[in-house]
Amino acid sequence: MSDERREIVAALRRAVAALRDEGVDWVGPRLPAGSAPAATQAPAAVVAAEPTRPEAAPAAPAARSTAARESSWQPRVPALDLPDPATLEGDAAARAARLAEIRADLGDCTRCGLCETRDQIVFGEGDPAAPVVFVGEGPGADEDRSGRPFVGRAGELLSKMIAAVGWRREDVYICNIVKCRPPGNRDPRLEEVAMCQPFLEQQLRAIDPAAIVTLGKPATSTLLGRPVAITKLRGQWQEWNGYALMPTFHPAYLLRNYTREARQAVWDDLKAVRARADARR
Ligand code: URA
Repeated sequence: MSDERREIVAALRRAVAALRDEGVDWVGPRLPAGSAPAATQAPAAVVAAEPTRPEAAPAAPAARSTAARESSWQPRVPALDLPDPATLEGDAAARAARLAEIRADLGDCTRCGLCETRDQIVFGEGDPAAPVVFVGEGPGADEDRSGRPFVGRAGELLSKMIAAVGWRREDVYICNIVKCRPPGNRDPRLEEVAMCQPFLEQQLRAIDPAAIVTLGKPATSTLLGRPVAITKLRGQWQEWNGYALMPTFHPAYLLRNYTREARQAVWDDLKAVRARADARR
């Protein structure tokens, strides 16, 4: 088995074990109503409790038929939005080159059903040697169109959050747990997250940041390997494979709950992240 397959299988096992701990005993396609007892019909949404998207969910675009996809097929591996490794020095060049390799491995990905409805893969962007990586949930409509993470309303707020602690957007790295837009902005499903997780994990290791910031419940639950209550966990340092991980609110949650208290919480969390990153320099 290739390393990539081994990582995918390990991620699936972890995700299934986490679901089992939650009491879920069926993971699979939604069954027709009445074809199984209710308890066995749970679709495999990874994390459902706290929707993070502010946009009204538009109707899911119809899946492109295989024929349509094939007739419009063209190589669709967009250039990675990173500086040319040749223009970078030492570490940064090596990390940029590694990220480019990971992007090439991802290719014109068809590992899960999201490939049927996405327009563009949104791999991630930013400084390959960033002190901090922000991990969101998944591309929305704006990101799907542009191929870049966090460019919609939530993205504008994320940029402000980053600026509030003295970084520019291009100083950090921004990506998501799934690289393709879930149709209608629904939550990514377990199997979709599991297919993408090895790529996310490789990105994190390539960048080797001082800290990882998970934005909202889905990103935090994915990296910690268990369902979390973000309102309880935010602001408390966690660990992912030896990396310091700070869970905080998703900017889309902040857009919906633009209270002084919620803003203060995120500000406190990001100040702690900034202090940690500065201490490693
Ligand atoms: N845009 C992203 O790229 N990720 C999110 O989680 C939300 C909006």
